[in-house]
Parts: sequence; C-alpha cells; structure tokens
Amino acid sequence: MTRLQYKLRRNRFLKAHHDLSTTTYSSSTHFMSTSFRHEPVLAKEVVEFLRPAPGRTIIDGTLGGGGHSSLLLKGGARVIGFDRDPEALAHSREHLALHGERFTVVEGNFSDALEALTALGISQVDGALLDLGVSSHQLDTAERGFSFQREGPLDMRMGKSGPTAADLVNTLPASELARVFREYGDEPRAIQFAARIIRAREKKQIATTAELAELIAAGRTGPRHPATRVFQALRIAVNDEIGSLERALPAFTSMLAPGGRLAVITFHSLEDRIVKHFFRRHAMSEIDDPTWPAPRPNPEYLFEALTPRSVTASPGELSSNPRSRSARLRVVERRGSTSPMNQGGRS
Ligand SMILES: C[S@@+](CC[C@H](N)C(=O)[O-])C[C@H]1O[C@@H](n2cnc3c(N)ncnc32)[C@H](O)[C@@H]1O
Repeated sequence: MTRLQYKLRRNRFLKAHHDLSTTTYSSSTHFMSTSFRHEPVLAKEVVEFLRPAPGRTIIDGTLGGGGHSSLLLKGGARVIGFDRDPEALAHSREHLALHGERFTVVEGNFSDALEALTALGISQVDGALLDLGVSSHQLDTAERGFSFQREGPLDMRMGKSGPTAADLVNTLPASELARVFREYGDEPRAIQFAARIIRAREKKQIATTAELAELIAAGRTGPRHPATRVFQALRIAVNDEIGSLERALPAFTSMLAPGGRLAVITFHSLEDRIVKHFFRRHAMSEIDDPTWPAPRPNPEYLFEALTPRSVTASPGELSSNPRSRSARLRVVERRGSTSPMNQGGRS
C-alpha cells in the first residue's frame, strides 16, 4: 500500500469511527503519538496504602509512564520498576533518573519478579503495586495496534516477543476465538464475530486494526464501538494477562516482608474477581465446612485485608481522569510483626 493510499484509507477510517468511539482513554485522533502520557489512577490512595518512606523497598510491577513510581520515590522509598514494554522503561528510566540508585528498572513480565529480585540480591520488600492493563501511551500509539480508533498493524503486544493479535485472529479456530471474546471480553456475539472472522480470513488475512474494526462493526453504529470488547479480549489473550496475574499474586505474596502491603488496581471484572478471591482465601483466619463440627484455623491465613470492599475513584478523579472509571483497588497486608523501617531491600 502506498503512503497516499494508506493516508486516504486512514482518513476514511477515522471519519467513519470518530463519532462512534467512546474510548475511555483518549479522544485524540493523532495518528502518531510520541509523547508519553499516562495519568496514574487512584494515586493518592496508592501512596496512602503503600506508605513510601526512606528505608522501604517497593516493587512497581507495572511501571508504565512511571506515574505511581514517581510518587513512591518522592516519598523516599527505593523502587524496583518492572515493565515488559521497552518504550515504557526507556521513558521512566529517563524521567525518574533524578532519584539515582533508589530507582531500578527491570524489563520483563511481573510474574517473573521473584527471580529478578533474587538476581538483584533482594529477598523481601515492604510494598508491591500492580496497576494492570495498558497505558494511555500504548493505546494512543497507532503502530502498537491496541486501538480500534487508530489504524495500525494488528499487533497489541506489550513486549516485543510472542504472537501478535493478527497471529491469533488469522490462525485460531472459531471455537477458540469465540472463547477469547466471551471470556475476556464478555462479548455476547462471540460466536457470530468468530464466524465472521473465519469467513473473512479465508479470502484475505486480517492485518490491521481498521480491517478488524470494520469487519466487526459491519456498518453498525452505537454509543459504544461494536469492536470494543473484541479488541479488549484480544489484548488480554495476546499478553496472557490473566495467566500473568495468576502467577504474580503468589510470587508477590512470597516477597512481602511481614507488615508489607500488596496493592492491585484492576480495570476488568475477571481480573478483579481473581484478585478478590486470592486475597479473601488468604485473609480468612478460619475456614469452615458443613461436615466439620466447628471451623478450623486456615493454614493459608497470610493477610489482613485493608480494603474489605474495593476502593474506587473519587468524584474529582472521575471527572478529571476518565480512565479511572472502571478502576478498582484492593490492598492486603502480610501478617506478622511490622517490618522495621530502614531495612530497605533486605538481602
Ligand atoms: C496501566 S499501565 C501502568 C501505569 C503506571 N502505573 C503509571 O502510573 O504510569 C500498565 C503497564 O504495565 C505493563 N504491563 C502490563 N502487564 C505486564 C506484565 N505482565 N509484566 C510487565 N509489565 C506489564 C504495561 O506494559 C503498561 O506499561
């Protein structure tokens, strides 16, 4: 495709979708975005719960634009920031360099944080944060292929390895595509959309975000773009977001010092359920069974729950940061005597 054809096609695509899209992340229609922009959600609450201070070590498993990390560093903590997106790491490394040795970046999946911390000689931490999902920067960058609003290659990988969304869309059987759309997107028309994709790809591979968005929308309009759920579901599948979270929760738990806190922000009901059940299972002092004469002590009792209900954004934040609309924060504290201060990065 020539540049001119690409431009014309893109303009047609933007015109067709500009009024339909209600993305919660950005209303910009810029084709390329070079500036890194991400407003941290529930920032005040995260800082209050994680209590950054000199001598404390906190893992930020989802560094992104470094919004939360910046506040934790300003509080005096040492921060180890993980991300699998090299662009996010490069930005945060530069942006937070003023904090010197108190800030370390690690490229990789947060589910491998335990091994990475061991390699850094750190055995326990005082706090950990997961702010799940994608950053505004990733969504806004057309070439990353996350957004149905921006024409680009159908990629959606947060990191640089593994299959792309185009690989999944062009190779998965209909049943598997439908499962992905249903499980990760709550898409009621999962089977119909999967069948439509199979028919289309028999004629021609689906290569761009625009091709997939047009195929799913099929000329329909509405307050919410018809491809919203399909794009979300593919992103979750491409990045194994559910698997990473399920592996990370026990790993992060094992790294917490007594009194250390784990804070998780989710944007998706499936993720929130996983976090809620994990925290609940380890925050019950006793377990019961109808066949037992009395409740028994829970051998997996590890946490005190600090947020019996999830924390959501304040009205002020909701109006200033639309991305906070679906954010839910849950926090637990590792049981045991509170870790003494000034033991940062205990080896
Ligand atoms: C919502 S953004 C985090 C924004 C950040 N808290 C801030 O204030 O700027 C999520 C970030 O986590 C990264 N991410 C998501 N899942 C990841 C995983 N399993 N391992 C490492 N990084 C991940 C994404 O690449 C993205 O940069």
